[in-house]
Amino acid sequence: MSRGLARHDPSEALRPVDWTGEHPPEYAKGSVPAHVAIIMDGNGRWANQRGLTRTQGHAAGEAVLLDVVAGALQAGVRHLSVYAFSTENWKRSPDEVRFLMGFNKDVLRRRRDQLDAWGVRVRWAGRRPRLWASVITELEEAERRTAGNDRMTLQMCVNYGGTMEIADAVRSIADDVAAGRLKPSGVTDRLVRSRMYNADIPDVDLYIRSSGEQRISNFLTLQGAYAEMVFLDRLWPDFTRQDLWRALDVYTGRDRRFGGAVDAPTA
Ligand code: IPE
Ligand code: IPE
Ligand code: MG
Repeated sequence: MSRGLARHDPSEALRPVDWTGEHPPEYAKGSVPAHVAIIMDGNGRWANQRGLTRTQGHAAGEAVLLDVVAGALQAGVRHLSVYAFSTENWKRSPDEVRFLMGFNKDVLRRRRDQLDAWGVRVRWAGRRPRLWASVITELEEAERRTAGNDRMTLQMCVNYGGTMEIADAVRSIADDVAAGRLKPSGVTDRLVRSRMYNADIPDVDLYIRSSGEQRISNFLTLQGAYAEMVFLDRLWPDFTRQDLWRALDVYTGRDRRFGGAVDAPTA
């Protein structure tokens, strides 16, 4: 029953739930995380294990993304962020970068009608500089077409980096201070948050990372300050909506305190 769960906390794998079904289990009322952020990792390893090229691994991840979006909708997740291309991924080979740019564009074009039909609102988070114009066009077209949907937000993080997002926010605040529109004393936590790319999306409740790596890799750095983390050993092309549901179950068992404390003597 440890299928897919990271080995660092085996007790989390022992819940007696059948995860193979087509419907999510009943989660306690109000316990489903409002914002889930997924680091879709392991495509290259999955492909290389099969004697395939890394880009074939990325291609295999497309159907998985759609399956997981469907599973998130079934579970009642309100905001789903997915990490598609980081500001650090430009370090990869020119061939892989070129493939990923074209792939992001094609996936958006191929899948936008399906997402729209499901009531999903697509939002883009990321930087314009360097990102292919054709990818920006598709992101903006998907945003435009789905702007009226409110069942779930799918935040596509493309050319996204958490530290870059904070730098962009700081730069816009510095511009306001330099122009005399803002005093330094007006720079508050709330103001900084208001300058994030999609400031109206609530903070991350749960990170899920596939592939067994246990790090955040610059994903939603500020918004994930108090997020729970679930790391799964499964490589992204093997991931399923049932893995998402299992991660949600692990989340419901976590005790989130946000720095607070409650006195509860046991003896
Ligand atoms: C994640 O899979 C997809 C992107 C980063 C675009 P990887 O390509 O990082 O796969 P691994 O980690 O090398 O296996
Ligand atoms: C994070 O995965 C970025 C995406 C999933 C798009 P990476 O594979 O790039 O992260 P590192 O380099 O292993 O930390
Ligand atoms: Mg990786």
